[in-house]
Amino acid sequence: MRAIISGVGHYVPDKILSNSDLEKMVDTDDEWITSRTGIKERRILDKEKGTSYMATKAAQVVLEETRTSPEELDLILLATVTPDMPVPSAVSFVQRDLGASNSWGFDINGGCTGFMCALTTGTQFIESGRHQKVLVIGADKMSAITNYEDRTTCVLFGDAAGAVLLESSGKDDLGIQDFIMHLDGAGAESLTIAGGGSIYPASHETVDKKMHYIYQDGKTVFKHAVVGMADVSAKIVERNNLGDNDIRFFIPHQANYRIIDAAAKKIGLDPERVVININKYGNTTAATIPLAMSETYRSNKLQKGDWVVLAAFGAGFTWGSVLLRWALD
Ligand code: ACO
Repeated sequence: MRAIISGVGHYVPDKILSNSDLEKMVDTDDEWITSRTGIKERRILDKEKGTSYMATKAAQVVLEETRTSPEELDLILLATVTPDMPVPSAVSFVQRDLGASNSWGFDINGGCTGFMCALTTGTQFIESGRHQKVLVIGADKMSAITNYEDRTTCVLFGDAAGAVLLESSGKDDLGIQDFIMHLDGAGAESLTIAGGGSIYPASHETVDKKMHYIYQDGKTVFKHAVVGMADVSAKIVERNNLGDNDIRFFIPHQANYRIIDAAAKKIGLDPERVVININKYGNTTAATIPLAMSETYRSNKLQKGDWVVLAAFGAGFTWGSVLLRWALD
């Protein structure tokens, strides 16, 4: 039995933060941001709303389009590094607001690889026969943990949510076919939000030291991301005996245009097969892949039976790839 993606949707806030807006906030310029990252603008959620708001919106699109009632859901998995609050899980609010009264669920923190952690977890519940309908969401309000006085990070991140519905299919040749996932805690301290956890609980000192904001050693993350994402993408194609021309779309995590380019070159894909929307949204962490998938689907470019490779790298370090065959008409 295979898990297929039977619906996909996304939500992005209306408010746009452009490179020229950022030029007025920190010492940066459009040329630097565009040439180093590929980002032109990102979306910002209203201050008083949380990640679960966007996650619920994306989920509602999926439920409406697949004509699924919320009560039919067995499980909701929400990948995020920006839950509404430390306790309870953000998925508690999503489950409540959707009215998914028969569903259980939990949050997954896999950094930028979070959506793929959730997708592969959801796949196991479908393949085991335990559940029939699993909603998998990737959502992050990165603006809540971004220091808009730090030019090395504030140009990178944005807010968004994406969601897919997983269902079982009798057909072996459609749906999630393979995955490769890694965790290497040796990179744990290269990408952190140190404050507000059990080592440094929130205090005046942690706030004064800005420890509640995201910190990354950009160069180290960049180096590992290029190698990690390229390796797992090439490996999953090879071990499934596929050639470059068999892959219809490569949908990578959108952290930096240059990381995506290096990974795509390693698997020999021409640019037309590489999905890139980082210019419009920046790095939305757990949301990038379902958001890019939803936009590709909505532009009528994906056809049933198309081979698709997903790949991501992020905090942990976590990284991985997923190979799937598109199941929607
Ligand atoms: N505008 C202008 N100059 C800047 C800016 C900016 N916004 N930011 C940094 N600079 C300067 C630096 O201060 C530095 O100046 P110096 O040489 O005088 O010291 C110079 O530009 C070069 O900085 P680098 O850090 O070397 O720039 P680099 O080319 O490495 O790009 C970037 C930085 C974009 C952050 C890159 O390292 C990157 O993309 N890293 C990976 C990000 C990533 O993949 N994150 C993982 C996912 S996040 C998650 O899991 C939640």
